[in-house]
Amino acid sequence: MSKQSNWWKNSIVYQVYPKSFNDSNNDGVGDIKGIVQKLDYLDKLGIDVIWLNPIFQSPMVDNGYDISDYYEINPLFGDKKDLKELLEKAHKRKIKIILDLVVNHTSDQHKWFLESKKSKDNKYSDYYIWKNPKPDGSAPNNWEASFGGSAWEYCSGRDQYYLHCFATQQPDLNWENPELRESIYQMMRYWLDFGVDGFRLDVISLLSKRQDFPDSPPEDTNTKNYYIGVSNGPRIHEFLNEMYNEVFSKYDIMTVGETPNTNVKQALLYTDPSRDELNMVFQFDHMHIDYGKYGKFSDVRFKLSDLKNILSNWQEGLEKGWNSLYWSNHDQPRAVTRFGNENNYRIESAKMLGTLLHMMKGTPFIFQGEEIGMKNVPFSSLKEYKDVETLGEIEKMKKAGENIKFIKEASYLKSRDNARTPLPWNGDDLYHGFSDVEPWIQNSPDDININIKDALLDENSVFYHYQKLIEIRKNYDVVIEGKYKLISQSDSDVYAYMRETDEEELLVVCSFSDKKVNYTLSKDINIEKFELLLSNYPNVTYFSKHFLLNPYEANIYYRKK
Ligand code: GLC
Repeated sequence: MSKQSNWWKNSIVYQVYPKSFNDSNNDGVGDIKGIVQKLDYLDKLGIDVIWLNPIFQSPMVDNGYDISDYYEINPLFGDKKDLKELLEKAHKRKIKIILDLVVNHTSDQHKWFLESKKSKDNKYSDYYIWKNPKPDGSAPNNWEASFGGSAWEYCSGRDQYYLHCFATQQPDLNWENPELRESIYQMMRYWLDFGVDGFRLDVISLLSKRQDFPDSPPEDTNTKNYYIGVSNGPRIHEFLNEMYNEVFSKYDIMTVGETPNTNVKQALLYTDPSRDELNMVFQFDHMHIDYGKYGKFSDVRFKLSDLKNILSNWQEGLEKGWNSLYWSNHDQPRAVTRFGNENNYRIESAKMLGTLLHMMKGTPFIFQGEEIGMKNVPFSSLKEYKDVETLGEIEKMKKAGENIKFIKEASYLKSRDNARTPLPWNGDDLYHGFSDVEPWIQNSPDDININIKDALLDENSVFYHYQKLIEIRKNYDVVIEGKYKLISQSDSDVYAYMRETDEEELLVVCSFSDKKVNYTLSKDINIEKFELLLSNYPNVTYFSKHFLLNPYEANIYYRKK
């Protein structure tokens, strides 16, 4: 019998990037004790769950997504005692904690890999994906790694190549091996017994590789369609169902899988509760709407029609499963720069984006700093970027002969470091309350104006708007259960939708324009019957069915039927 209940449906998750959240011991790196110190802040916002990016032992080639020991906490972040304290103090405030687990790959410093690479006949030989070279000595196929270069690395100890979908130092685990799978399940049970409330499962759709390891069409490199032999592979659902039976079903937890290259139909297979796999997944379709010739690193602006089509497709397609809702995370630029207007309407557009997302069906995720409308970071030089993905992309663009202005612009718009600068707790101190010493990555020059202290002092800040969105979600069942319906298909500036149950109705109207725009409701919606629950403007104007919307205006209307 499964122990799972559905608390995660009513929850709002806040993502903490521990390295950049709050540094309690003044070594320039955020830590677990630093999170404990700020629990009251998170409680005030009203969130229910904290997702911690990986805190395990790691050489930090990819900021913790390269785990070298699943059973130890990275001393940079603290130790198990600190994690226990965090769990206790969070639980006291009714906040749950989920950990980020990376089980598609480990670090090349993990003892399994150190053994595996030695020979073909030790206990760990088959824990990773090893292939013989082609007769001419070259790599087994043409797959490219996500962070650049071939996805295969030669190892003389075995005269073979190993697969790494990400950095060379992140060898992919061999999920075909039942012993490896059991080792992972054991480790998962260890942390759940320790008291954590669930997992965010990194690139989980990549676990099952096609065993014929086909070449990928070379023209697909930029969209990472080389994952053709990797994403949603032949045994993925079998593995996740096994994971559910061996681990998840025994605890009342939340699971969210990161699933690159997954469409709605496939996502339903992961999240349909009757299939016993995951509670929800992170889809990427709305993250791909502004890709250019180098894929993610582009200066292309999204089209509102694409955003509407994609989000609506997911809202409708996962009726039977469950959606995660997000604008930003540690891998994405800041939402207000990307989808809003960071110059003239930063606050209005940040509130509008929050409104649009939080009233949808699914579990909303807030990435640290999003709740104060943080924007992308204007680094003065390319040298200031630290992230392994960004460095790889800069190299790639330089090699392709791209001009430096474009490279700078694309990095400003898309680098993961935009999300990774220290969280500014105030605008005054040298390092803005994050640390007393120079942080591992530069603070954003914008911290002086965009910081938590100021947000808390201003009743009209983005913070308090997010707090109200969270309250609405808690007080109106229609936000959790209501059926979604897009009502502004053809409007070029406005994204409006309804949510409906037998008892209640919600109407959400959001403008994506930096000008005043008119918007007319369809005949069947009688606005007079609705009450205004929340707006990002003090005065809302409508005459009968006609709205005169301010730049980036966002309104939520409600009615009991
Ligand atoms: C996921 C993580 C990302 C990491 C990658 C490899 O996409 O979110 O930060 O670099 O997996 O583990």
